[in-house]
Amino acid sequence: MRILITGGAGFIGSYLCEKYTKEGHTVLCLDNFLSGNLLNVRHLLGCRNFKLIRGDIRDFNLLERIGHDLDIIFHLAAQIHVDRSYVEPRLTYEINVIGTQNVLEIARIYDVKKVIHTSSSEVYGSAQYVPIDEKHPLDAPHPYGASKIAADRMCNAYVITYGMDISIPRFFNIFGPRQRDIGYGGVISIFTRRVLNDVPPVIYGDGKQTRDYTYIEDAARAFDLVLNHESRLEPINIGSGKEVSILDLANMIIELCDKKGRIEPVHVEPRIGEVKQLIADTRKAKKVLGWEVKYDFRKGLKAFIQWYKQFGQEERIQL
Ligand SMILES: NC(=O)c1ccc[n+]([C@@H]2O[C@H](COP(=O)([O-])OP(=O)(O)OC[C@H]3O[C@@H](n4cnc5c(N)ncnc54)[C@H](O)[C@@H]3O)[C@@H](O)[C@H]2O)c1
Repeated sequence: MRILITGGAGFIGSYLCEKYTKEGHTVLCLDNFLSGNLLNVRHLLGCRNFKLIRGDIRDFNLLERIGHDLDIIFHLAAQIHVDRSYVEPRLTYEINVIGTQNVLEIARIYDVKKVIHTSSSEVYGSAQYVPIDEKHPLDAPHPYGASKIAADRMCNAYVITYGMDISIPRFFNIFGPRQRDIGYGGVISIFTRRVLNDVPPVIYGDGKQTRDYTYIEDAARAFDLVLNHESRLEPINIGSGKEVSILDLANMIIELCDKKGRIEPVHVEPRIGEVKQLIADTRKAKKVLGWEVKYDFRKGLKAFIQWYKQFGQEERIQL
């Protein structure tokens, strides 16, 4: 198969590039290196069936040039950081909404067999009830979440209007090796870096806000199940179904980095619009895909910290 992976040099996309390149498919990895890292895919550059394209999903002409004969598109390219979306809402909209629309349009023009669009639990906003199922209102309070809602809706419009095969796995927080924190970053990488460097983790508010974490290997398996599912999937939650508070997370990282008693988290003012509670109702994923997490959170966190100690602070390489 000929597979386009947008955002392929990013954290999650790089696992998909690796998997499908190793399986012998032709993989086109498209990335503009906004947050991507050459280190994530460098080991694939020697493979004849892997092609790295530095480019932007906002560039429709480029997509037109590379979109022919595609069988599958995994669409992951996005401005993914909530904080950055406060500062750069327009960039976030242009990439996440217009960029997604370009990808869908290419899929339509070239009759791509299947598109897998990566949605996010941030579309739900703070939980109005828990666990959050797929029918939960979409009530994101920040530009990132709003842009992901718009992208999901655009996928839906293409399904209804053109009968396209577009599936929408909706991931809760994903973590694991290759998740770095240069500039903006995931909370697990940020806390790990600080703690390893003897700097206390900073918690916005009381730290009782919760997230639902899935280890990257489990997330990659979910993508593959979606790909191989015989029919199109409407939004489907991919999460562990367990919540972890930010305070517990900080303390766990302190303990696993052997800094207990030496470092304490510090609390600052809460962030505007921060989502308070996220926990997935995972029944649909279990029933439809037969998917559930295999990695327990602590085991994943240990594996991540081990990786981070070795590679996490390497300088990012952009093309
Ligand atoms: N990490 C999570 O916890 C999580 C949870 C839910 C959903 N998601 C979604 O998964 C996808 C991948 O996230 P990630 O965690 O791997 O983040 P990431 O930042 O590592 O990956 C995003 C990639 O997209 C690239 N990109 C950004 N703008 C682009 C553009 N205009 N053209 C081409 N490439 C562009 C970036 O350079 C980066 O390599 C995103 O769509 C994100 O919304 C992530």
